[in-house]
Amino acid sequence: MFDYSKRKIDYVRISVTDKCNLRCVYCIPDEGVEQLHSQDILTDEEIIRLCQSFISLGINNIKITGGEPLLRKDVTGLIEQIKRLQGIQRVTLTTNGVKLKEYLPDLIKAGLDGINISLDTLNGEIYRKITSKDALEKVLESVEQALAYEHLNVKINCVPSELMDSCDIINMAALAKDSRLNVRFIEMMPIGPGKNFTSWSEDKIMKLLEKTYGTLQLTETMYGNGPAHYYSIKGFKGKIGFISALSHQFCGNCNRVRVTSDGCLKTCLYYAENLDLKNILRKSNGNMALEQAIWQNIYDKPAGHKFKSDNEDGKIGQVTMSQIGG
Ligand code: GTP
Ligand code: 5AD
Ligand code: SF4
Repeated sequence: MFDYSKRKIDYVRISVTDKCNLRCVYCIPDEGVEQLHSQDILTDEEIIRLCQSFISLGINNIKITGGEPLLRKDVTGLIEQIKRLQGIQRVTLTTNGVKLKEYLPDLIKAGLDGINISLDTLNGEIYRKITSKDALEKVLESVEQALAYEHLNVKINCVPSELMDSCDIINMAALAKDSRLNVRFIEMMPIGPGKNFTSWSEDKIMKLLEKTYGTLQLTETMYGNGPAHYYSIKGFKGKIGFISALSHQFCGNCNRVRVTSDGCLKTCLYYAENLDLKNILRKSNGNMALEQAIWQNIYDKPAGHKFKSDNEDGKIGQVTMSQIGG
């Protein structure tokens, strides 16, 4: 479907849990986040009904997110059910990779099309500083294992925060040299504790990588549904991507909406006004009212975020990325 700004919307990010087994400093505040009650989380049946409604509106690429989605009970069973829906295209997952290795065989059997793994650094000490856990080795094993499935699209999400130095950035990019991994650098967004951090800018990373590895050549190809743009480097098997929501705003090409784990439709990452789909789902067994409400809400999707405007900043309030699903 198209929104009033004539953007084609064909991608929905569905958060299946607000729980996470890491505590990334820019995502979860020191005091923690109040967890949702289990009865407020959408059930598998409700998520399937939602997916059917999205598909009937032409929104047939689905990203499963969290918190950490692999913490949801039988998430592989849910993915398998979604993959079986008529009209579905790609079903992909964004995970922190800590538990991925053990889930991979079942995820592959379920038909998963791609995995994005969040990994900011290859330095164990900095990893612990960022996430509060000693899980770097586990994540690296997951990455290696994921690459063993040749058909699987595997990408790394790196938020290059101020905690990282130029060696970290160079080493992260090097992951794309010898393997087909696409490494994406994500600019810090002022959401939750992210407001208290800055990150390396795209331009600064570009300069550093060009000095180290040679020219970065912009590619036309999209390697997923999302907002990243990608560069190739001579001699690199994978690509280097950037998601720079502030310095290279991409709202004009936005193709996506989100559903939080408690069933709220968020038509923009930035906006606080959400549509309570859970309420509609639980009021009626049919999908007609649901589809109509989703259609109207998406049609009215805001033209873009206003992260840079102080006046608007209060709108997203205290919500964290783990609650939204990234
Ligand atoms: P693929 O391209 O399909 O791999 O997906 P993706 O890049 O959309 O998914 P992923 O979950 O890996 O998200 C990577 C980062 O992009 C996260 O930090 C998201 O918050 C961010 N992101 C995705 N969509 C948007 C968006 O519409 N606006 C902003 N500001 N950030 C987004
Ligand atoms: N700004 C940018 N990216 C963030 N992520 C979490 N919080 C922020 C933020 N404030 C990233 C995670 C993960 C992805 C889903 O979102 O590191 O890779
Ligand atoms: Fe968990 Fe992702 Fe937030 Fe890190 S960024 S705490 S992995 S939800």
